Parts: sequence; C-alpha cells; structure tokens
Amino acid sequence: MSFQIKNRLRVVVLVHENLVPPETLEGLSEKQILEFKTEYDVISTIKRMGHDVQPLGLYSDLGVISTAIQDYRPHIAFNLLEEFHGYPLFDQHVVSYLELMRQPYTGCNPRGLTLAHDKALSKQILSYHRISVPAFAVFEMNRKVKRHARLKFPLLVKSLTEEGSVGIARASVVNDDAKLKERVEFIHRQLGTHAIAEQYIEGREIYVGLIGNQKMQTYAPWELVMQNLPEGAPNIATLKVKWDPAYQKKIGVVTQPAHLTPDLEKKLVRISKRIYRLLFLSGYARLDYRLTSDGQLYLLEANPNPNVAHGDDFSDSAAHCGISYEQLLQKIMTLGLSYNSMSVRRGGN
Ligand SMILES: Nc1ncnc2c1ncn2[C@@H]1O[C@H](COP(=O)(O)OP(=O)(O)O)[C@@H](O)[C@H]1O
Ligand SMILES: [Mg+2]
Repeated sequence: MSFQIKNRLRVVVLVHENLVPPETLEGLSEKQILEFKTEYDVISTIKRMGHDVQPLGLYSDLGVISTAIQDYRPHIAFNLLEEFHGYPLFDQHVVSYLELMRQPYTGCNPRGLTLAHDKALSKQILSYHRISVPAFAVFEMNRKVKRHARLKFPLLVKSLTEEGSVGIARASVVNDDAKLKERVEFIHRQLGTHAIAEQYIEGREIYVGLIGNQKMQTYAPWELVMQNLPEGAPNIATLKVKWDPAYQKKIGVVTQPAHLTPDLEKKLVRISKRIYRLLFLSGYARLDYRLTSDGQLYLLEANPNPNVAHGDDFSDSAAHCGISYEQLLQKIMTLGLSYNSMSVRRGGN
C-alpha cells in the first residue's frame, strides 16, 4: 500500500441495513458481491488505509445514528445511503439530521440532494440559467395522461425520482400517445412514483465526475458505449445495461474515456462546474449528459453521491486523471471534514 494517511480518523460508514458487507468476499458469486460492492470497497479500503472504521446499518431508525455519534464520536460519517425507510428521497433528511447533530459527513448537502433528485425541478432551475436540458413534462400519479402539443415524440418516460435506471428499458422510448400512456402508467404502478417524459435525445452518452465544495475539479469525461447493440435499439442505459453482467457482455457494454475535441471538452468542463454550483452540490457528483452529432450537450441528470465502487465510472475517471482509489476516498473524507454548512451559499443570481 503506497498511500500514507496523515491522521487516523474514526469513520462511521452509513449503509442500508441489508448492505452491511461481510469481512471477506471468499465463496461469494459475482451477483452476490454486486449487491454490496460499493459498501465493501469503501469499508475495506479505508480500513486498509489505516482508519478506524465502523459500518452502521440503517433502515428507519435515526436513533442508531445518534447512539453511534455518542458512543463512537466519529470524525466523519461516510454516507453511502441511497434511501431511508425505503424512500430514495428520504436520504436528504438523514443528511439534514447529521447537520442538526453537527456531525461532519461525506458527499452532498441536503439542499443539493433535494434539488438534484427531482429530475423536473433540477431542469427548471437549469433552463432558467440557459443550460440545455431536454424538454419535458411531469405526469403525476392519479392524474389523466394528457400530452401538451409542444412536447414532441420520440419521448423517454422514466420515474421522476428513482435512480440507477430503475424502470428504464427499451420500451421507455415511446413514439405515440398510446405508448406514452402505457409507459407512464407502468411507472406509476410499478414504482409508485410520479413519471417524467422527456424529449428523447439521440446521441452519445457522456458522464462527468466532479469533486469539491467551493472549488471543484472535474475528472476525465467518460462515455458509455454499446459495441454490439442490436440494430434499431436505442443506446440508452437501461436497467439491464447498468446491472446485468451477462447482458453487458452480450451487447458489449464498455465505459471509457470519451474522445472529444478540445473545444468540446472545455465546454463540458465549464458547463459541468456551473451546473454543480447552480444545483448547490457539494462533496462529489456525476453529471449524465447526451451529446448530439452536431455537438449539442444536454444534461439528463445530476447525481450527487454517485456510486464510488472501485472500478465504477466515477473512480475510473478519477484514476484516469492519476487519482488512486485510496486518494479519492481520502479526498471525499477531507472535503466532508472541511464543509461548513453554515457558510455555504451557491446557486445563481
Ligand atoms: N431524455 C433522454 N434522452 C435520451 N436518453 C435518455 C433520456 N433520459 C434518460 N435517458 C437514458 O436513460 C438513462 C437513465 O436516465 P437518467 O435520467 O440518468 O436516470 P437514472 O437516475 O435512472 O440514472 C440515461 O443514462 C440515458 O441513457
Ligand atoms: Mg443517470
């Protein structure tokens, strides 16, 4: 291990109670490991770095956190939660609780989480600031599905608030009102959330990782490519593309540095930093874009606290810039320690 820590930190790692990883991966299948890979990678790596680490499984009881804070007095809470009490949107409330407890934590602040997790609200803010986002409409649960004539096909239908391509398949791209209604109702029924239908942006799939609080840095723009996509299938990151290793092999999914012209790369870095500020993000984030053949960039969504598994897009794009996994996790913790929730004011004018 070449990485040397300066100060040994007491780190409590907040994870979903079903994702507290075992000490070793021996004897487990690829599929089993995938479930808690991020949790395992983070916990085992910061332990190996020499920090004192305490995993903390959570479902719906905040008391577990206050007890851990009292008994263990962590310097930092490493936040790997993506939901609380089964709701993806509730993770922001846990972070609010950490702020109320004056407990330093890693990753994004509550306001940034709230804005970014709503795929419509974030687009409204960005379009006010003239950043290109797909045209969209929200279809609420228990309301009639009626499309405004301004919203033109093809459209992509997804959950307003779910993450990780949940509810996204080839059938998410729709070309007429009947299919739109069908897919919106599918989202309502299957996921129990409101739906958003967006103008489908034909193009390349580009991700940009950022890290920082007041000042931020971008990592190498990354691209998701499907080398053996069947003729006519849309190149979108469906649930299977993201999470099914056998399917990934079959259609040749690779993620790699995006080859862009220097001008486009500069523009991407500039826009990404603006978006990060405008959405009040802090800690680290990954922005998902589509890039059209005529060089237009559209932001699809901002992901605060993106997946930090070893070998996932975020850490790979950092590694491409010479940042080792240990350095990345250390930096995330250092940023959490220095973040001052009282003094941060972001956004635009
Ligand atoms: N408006 C759109 N145009 C083209 N593709 C889209 C659009 N919205 C979503 N997608 C595809 O679906 C994937 C998942 O959508 P995204 O909004 O990033 O949701 P998630 O939070 O599930 O990652 C994207 O990475 C992209 O491939
Ligand atoms: Mg996404």
